[in-house]
Parts: sequence; structure tokens; C-alpha cells
Amino acid sequence: MSEVIDLRSDTVTQPTPAMLQAMLQARVGDDVYGEDETVNELQEQGARLFGKEAALFCPTGTMSNQIGIKVHAQPGDEVICDELAHVYLFEGGGIAANSGASVRLLHGRNGRFTADQVRENINRRDDSHLPWTRVVAIENTVNKGGGCCWDLREIERIRRVCDEHSIAMHLDGARLFNALVAKGESAGDHGRLFDTISVCLSKGLGAPAGSLLLGSKQLIAKAHRHRKLMGGGMRQSGYLAAAGLFALRNNVDRLKEDHAKAKVLAAELRARPFVADILPVETNIVIIRLADDLTAESLLDRLRCQQVRASSSGRQQIRFVVHLDISDDQFESLVRTVRSV
Ligand SMILES: Cc1ncc(COP(=O)(O)O)c(C=O)c1O
Repeated sequence: MSEVIDLRSDTVTQPTPAMLQAMLQARVGDDVYGEDETVNELQEQGARLFGKEAALFCPTGTMSNQIGIKVHAQPGDEVICDELAHVYLFEGGGIAANSGASVRLLHGRNGRFTADQVRENINRRDDSHLPWTRVVAIENTVNKGGGCCWDLREIERIRRVCDEHSIAMHLDGARLFNALVAKGESAGDHGRLFDTISVCLSKGLGAPAGSLLLGSKQLIAKAHRHRKLMGGGMRQSGYLAAAGLFALRNNVDRLKEDHAKAKVLAAELRARPFVADILPVETNIVIIRLADDLTAESLLDRLRCQQVRASSSGRQQIRFVVHLDISDDQFESLVRTVRSV
């Protein structure tokens, strides 16, 4: 058992011996020539799962999001997303740098906005002063929203608005599988609603790297070109794709264990006087706001002394992310620590 209980992110997981074994046995080739069997298998399986025509294996979620937006938007266009969106906050200004597009930020509820908000923020195309609204980007689950899930019916309503105005929809599904497991939805439910979807294999699913961008054959052909341009064309990447295939096979259903632990952790934290409030917990993320003048740094220091790591997501906010490397024993020890702080 590792001494440190690391809840900074679900990206800190280490591949298990079984995953490493699957990687070792991968049949690989040069994927820039389209000759890596394992990458091809992962792309075909991903596309099938979501009911999309094609998929592209990318090294990171940032790249698959940025390409996903770039296939829809060009300089002078506008992207609508929430003010908490990862594509806006944490991708290095990539929407401006890669697509030359401006961003219209919506103030949603923990990162989720409504079809009415979208409708109100679409620019008229017959006024040459205005950027063209070209893409609506949704994040599910919402990282900064405490891992909350979207209501599928609201996404359907947004789809109808976008269809009326010929606007594309992109999904940042870095943690989409957490949402599917929590809400009992299928990948196809989302596949039919979005033009492009980015799903990460390296978050809750535990692979060391890799994301899939899903879409139509035409969009993925365009995406292929952008991936090369961004330097994301990899060679024997089947070793990584094998980890992704293993993750899809073995690590999806078990996400419910992470969700159950996150709920227990939230209940323990709620009982502590230093916690002012907690965002509703639906999946594997717990975000707390600290009481009085207690700063995130001071509590993080105290936790660190007890071998627990978490991350600050604001001056008085702390984020805990439960993942597959938190064993039951570690979780019990975590609960004891929370009670003793
Ligand atoms: C919601 C969300 N989208 C996208 C990403 C980007 O993924 P990557 O770190 O693989 O670039 C992250 C990373 O944590 C994320 O939380």
C-alpha cells in the first residue's frame, strides 16, 4: 500500500500489472501510416460504442478537445461554453491560439447552462460586426462543478437550438464514463447528440495516456490533419492504445466504487467544523469550501503532514478526487484522518 493517499486528481493512477501486461502484448505498427493494429482497434471500438463513424486516438484530452473545436471553428468564429469549462480555463488559451475563435462565456449552474441561455447568446449571422457562433462546448462531468452530471434532456434541448442555427456541438467528456455510470446512460445517448466528443482514457479509467476524439468520417479526416499539425501523430502508439482498450474493458463499471467512496468522504467532511459547504457529489469529485478564514493552503499542509494530498481549487476551496488507486484500506485511513483534523 502506497504511504501517500493522493487525491489531487484521477490522473495520478499507475497502470496495474494486468494493464502493463496488455500493453506488453500489443501488436503495434507505425500509426502515422495508419498501420498500428491496436490503435485501429481502439478507434473502431470507441466509434462503435458511441455510434459514431470514426475516432482518432490523441495523446491528451487537451489535444482532442482543441482539435474537436478546431474542426468546427475558424478565425472570427465564436465558441459558447460555461465560465468553468476546462476548454476555456485550462487549455492555455487554446481556443484563441488554435482556432482563432472568441469565446462567449455563460454563467451556468456548476458549469451547466440551459438551452435558453444558448439561444440568448447566439449572434445573428446577418450582422457583419458579430463573430459567428459556430460551436457550443459542453463538459460532462463538470470538473470545476464538483463532478456534476448534465441532464440529458437539457442537452437535447440545446441540440434543437443548435440545429435551428446550424451550430455544432462538442463534448469535453474527459470524465464522461463517470457520468454514464452515475446516471445509467449509454455512450450512444451522447453519441447521437454531439458532432464531436472527446473522451479521456487517462482519468478515471486509469490508462497512462490517451484520449479519443469521435465524430463523422469527414470530421475525423479533418481532425487527423490537425493532429499532425499539432505534433500529435505518434508512431507505435498501440502500446498506449492497448492500455486504453484494457481500461474500457475493465475499468468502467468499477467507477461506481469511486462514486460511493466520494459520497462517504463528502459525508465525513460535511460533519467537520472547518467545512462551510460542499458541492453536490454525483461522481468521483468532492469540492469543499472552507469555513471562516481558513485557507486551502493551510488545510492542505495539515493533510500533507498526515500523508493525504488534495488540491486547491480556489483560495478557500479544496478538491478531492477519488480514483482506482485508492484502496479500501487507504480509504479507511483517509476517513480516520479527516475525522482527526
Ligand atoms: C474536464 C477536463 N477536460 C480536459 C482535460 C484535459 O486532459 P489532459 O490533461 O489529458 O490534456 C482535463 C484534465 O484534467 C479535464 O479535467
